[in-house]
Amino acid sequence: MSTAWTIPTGTHAAVLGLGVDRGKRVVPNSELVAAIDSSDEWIQQRSGIRERRWVGPDEDLVTMSLAASQAALAASSVEAAQIDAVIVATCTWTMQTPSLAAKLAYLLGTQAPAAFDISAACAGFCHAVGIANDMVRSGTARYVLVVGAELLSEMTSRTDRGTAFIFGDGAGAVVIGPSDVPGIGPVVWGSDGEQFDAIRQSVDWRDVLAEEEPTMPYIAMDGATVFRWAAYQMAKVAQETLDRTGIRVEEIDLFVPHQANMRIIDAMARAMKLPEHVRIARDIADQGNTSAASIPLALARMYADGEAKSGDLALLIAFGAGLSYAAQVVRVP
Ligand code: COA
Repeated sequence: MSTAWTIPTGTHAAVLGLGVDRGKRVVPNSELVAAIDSSDEWIQQRSGIRERRWVGPDEDLVTMSLAASQAALAASSVEAAQIDAVIVATCTWTMQTPSLAAKLAYLLGTQAPAAFDISAACAGFCHAVGIANDMVRSGTARYVLVVGAELLSEMTSRTDRGTAFIFGDGAGAVVIGPSDVPGIGPVVWGSDGEQFDAIRQSVDWRDVLAEEEPTMPYIAMDGATVFRWAAYQMAKVAQETLDRTGIRVEEIDLFVPHQANMRIIDAMARAMKLPEHVRIARDIADQGNTSAASIPLALARMYADGEAKSGDLALLIAFGAGLSYAAQVVRVP
């Protein structure tokens, strides 16, 4: 008789460790304003960004992802060989195939794990955490490495007034594994394809090839549309996430939203009526918007500043191109 097919019951999953890597080049607003006829004051007032991190000469998506992943493994006391799956959320890996995850899994010295990238832009990290949580809880994997990594400086037009000052480079990684108690709540996620064009790659690759002098496509955005959608719809998604998790807003310690724009973060916090004690991530001020990497980078900053401590309950919410979103509550490692 064949072995019975058993699905483990009662297995919980948790975030076991976090690691990050920021682009090393500090780029102040003053370096960008001339090309977009702007000012440091305008950028700070509209976005809350003072400076952003871009890659230095020896850095790229692979080096940042590798450094963040190695730090996450060390923080979780999990060996690379124990990793069953690597999931990378990114929109700036310029190879259509194979995935950055497969390369990263090899460079880390893992033992042939499942490895794949997901495309959910700025919402990618929370999508990947949701998938990893389900994988661990269902017994598909024991340890999953989740990475959010972006090299947006390469895909940002220096002369686009609506985006040139927004984006930054970096990577953040977490290891998700089994736990005696629930460490990750249910994911609330969705998309609004009617707004497919609100944030997009400026040109389809086929049309790039048709150009006389092909240039790298860049991120194009209808800023006002995105602003309205994020500021008004995402607070409702955040509340739904708390409801699905079965906790009240008073019970969370940290609010770690995607670092899109300081004004969006403030609008969400107001709409959610966050209590005074909830610490709010504001990493965007000197990191810029790093899309799929922004939530782990922002959480790491909160540890560094003494605002986050092990065991805190954090509400994560990510949103962006699609337009897509994903959110969950996690207990931070
Ligand atoms: N510097 C100076 N002035 C600028 C400018 C710039 N970079 N870009 C636009 N302006 C001017 C416009 O010409 C306009 O001037 P006018 O009132 O004299 O006509 C004015 O500022 C307002 O332009 P608008 O395009 O409506 O700006 P905005 O208030 O919507 O701010 C963003 C632009 C990009 C900061 C804002 O739309 C935004 O943050 N959107 C969300 C972006 C985001 O979070 N994206 C990531 C999602 S994952």
